[in-house]
Amino acid sequence: MFEFAGLRFRPLEKEDLKLLHVWENDSELMMYSRSEPLNMVTMAQLEERFAEWTKNEKNLLFIVENMESNEPIGFASIRREVWGNVPGADVGTYIGKKELWEKGFGKRITVALLEMSFMHLGLEHCQAWSVEYNTRAHRALESCGFKKGGVERNTVYVAGRKWGSFHFDILQEEYMNIRMNLLKSVLRDEVDGYLEKIGPNLKPAR
Ligand SMILES: CC(C)(COP(=O)(O)OP(=O)(O)OC[C@H]1O[C@@H](n2cnc3c(N)ncnc32)[C@H](O)[C@@H]1OP(=O)(O)O)[C@@H](O)C(=O)NCCC(=O)NCCS
Repeated sequence: MFEFAGLRFRPLEKEDLKLLHVWENDSELMMYSRSEPLNMVTMAQLEERFAEWTKNEKNLLFIVENMESNEPIGFASIRREVWGNVPGADVGTYIGKKELWEKGFGKRITVALLEMSFMHLGLEHCQAWSVEYNTRAHRALESCGFKKGGVERNTVYVAGRKWGSFHFDILQEEYMNIRMNLLKSVLRDEVDGYLEKIGPNLKPAR
């Protein structure tokens, strides 16, 4: 488990597939998160995917819970299989509870994914892809320090036209430069408590 800013990141379990089945068949959610509003998925397909995902230890797949209500609110992932030999990951998230969009949860989830990637997994870069029209996700990524790199043009066809996919990334050293500001913005007066909790106790043993 990883707890951060009132959110608990716990491993995706087989029992969660029922919930994922609802979220991943919501066309509005999928229009933004997969850029394929009609890409419906059956329970059997999800079970197959789950078996594939969990075979690969490099995939960290999380259900994100709101610690206040103990309710699952979304899905997040760190997939450590990116091109190149510098350790990096593809990070992603969606908030399945749509009524919670635009209330700051996305930023908290994204900073948590960067904390895990850069402070615990020793990665050196993180990347994310987002469809051209998903300005909310672009803003969420940029507000956590991601920079827009290139555009892969005309990758998806949605609502009668083609759209590109935007590539965003952030390097570990860039994250370290803005880390304290980001932690303050999402943790507020809980920053010291968080740092104490995750850091090793460096006081010499008596
Ligand atoms: C994308 C998503 C994770 C963002 O999370 P969120 O909780 O809605 O966003 P937040 O409230 O944390 O806002 C993050 C930033 O985006 C800005 N923002 C929020 N809504 C916005 C909108 N409609 N347009 C532009 N910017 C917006 C916020 O002001 C904030 O920026 P700031 O820190 O500079 O103030 C969430 O909306 C979601 O799950 N969307 C559907 C699936 C999806 O798009 N997944 C991402 C695929 S790449």
